[in-house]
Amino acid sequence: MLENFKSVGIIGTGSYLPDKIVTNQDLEKIVKTSDEWIADRTGIRERRIAEPGIATSDLAAAAAEKALHDAGVTADEIDLIIVATCTPDMSLPSTACLVQDKIKASKAAAFDLSAACSGFAYGLVVGSQCIKTGLYKKVLVIGAETLSRIIDWTDRNTCVLFGDGAGAVVLSEVPAGYGILGVDLGAQGSGADFLKVPAGGSSSPATNETVIQRQHFVQMNGSEVFKFAVKVMGESAIKALDHAGLSNTDIDCLVPHQANMRIINSAAKRLKVPMEKVMINLDRYGNTSSATIPIALDEAIKCNKIKNDDIVVLVGFGAGLTWASCVIKWYKEDKTIV
Ligand code: ACO
Repeated sequence: MLENFKSVGIIGTGSYLPDKIVTNQDLEKIVKTSDEWIADRTGIRERRIAEPGIATSDLAAAAAEKALHDAGVTADEIDLIIVATCTPDMSLPSTACLVQDKIKASKAAAFDLSAACSGFAYGLVVGSQCIKTGLYKKVLVIGAETLSRIIDWTDRNTCVLFGDGAGAVVLSEVPAGYGILGVDLGAQGSGADFLKVPAGGSSSPATNETVIQRQHFVQMNGSEVFKFAVKVMGESAIKALDHAGLSNTDIDCLVPHQANMRIINSAAKRLKVPMEKVMINLDRYGNTSSATIPIALDEAIKCNKIKNDDIVVLVGFGAGLTWASCVIKWYKEDKTIV
């Protein structure tokens, strides 16, 4: 269906993590948990936390500037900025508008995309369509989060899982046959209650009561999200591969959402992808929601896990519930990916 349109791919990547490291041992001092439990049950050993005063737009802008540099593109050339986030600086204006101002991309349209941890892959699909159809030439897609601000630091069920960070990519036309070859997006709103921040929106505006009841923090049914993730990751990746006319045996690098090592292991097993082809940085950053995939993708390129002509599969799941996969045939013009 998309054959008559331009081929669109990622021509630059960048990521930014706050300096402050919070280890599992640090968390042992604030909730009843242990390094052993967290590492065994999730694979996480440490996470980065933004300093007070640093907002999602700051992380996003820093990652975006690196992606622009990597792509050899100036901010002026960007036609559209999509920021996937569930921790915007504020309800309005959008974080994307704040990023547009920070990086001085004065010609760019800008909006936020809300699909939780699937948001970055959703953003790739939306952004790439704008280039495929000829509407735009260069699109910046960013996944950025300061989850530390919406985590209940007294709840051991959730506070050990998340971290802050941002990743960004520049999308542009690439030679025919390269770039995004297949996609799969999905949602299951009936699972909305499994992962939510109950208050602060139109259904339950902020009141003294909502604050006292800690309703502005993430609430999660971990086992339901776990079951959903294990099922949907493999299924979605296969659908995106089908869409691309490829199969699981074609995968050179799998970049999964980094939520739990057991979920990643199970997705890799279902896809029959050996673990050496799977990008993992969950141990160092925890779950940074929409930022996990672009950060992991950036690191995979920097450590030569991805090279030209490789088939790269990105697969995410998250609140909504949502899922999203993209199959990319990797292409970078200078052929020397560093
Ligand atoms: N330290 C010690 N014990 C803990 C901790 C902790 N940090 N957290 C939970 N426990 C306890 C529980 O209280 C429970 O104790 P109990 O048996 O006495 O009641 C016990 O450990 C087992 O709890 P389970 O929930 O069964 O543990 P499980 O092995 O399922 O792991 C986890 C929980 C890690 C949350 C897992 O379910 C998971 O990863 N789920 C998916 C979460 C996820 O991916 N969320 C992000 C989605 S993406 C997005 O949109 C943001």
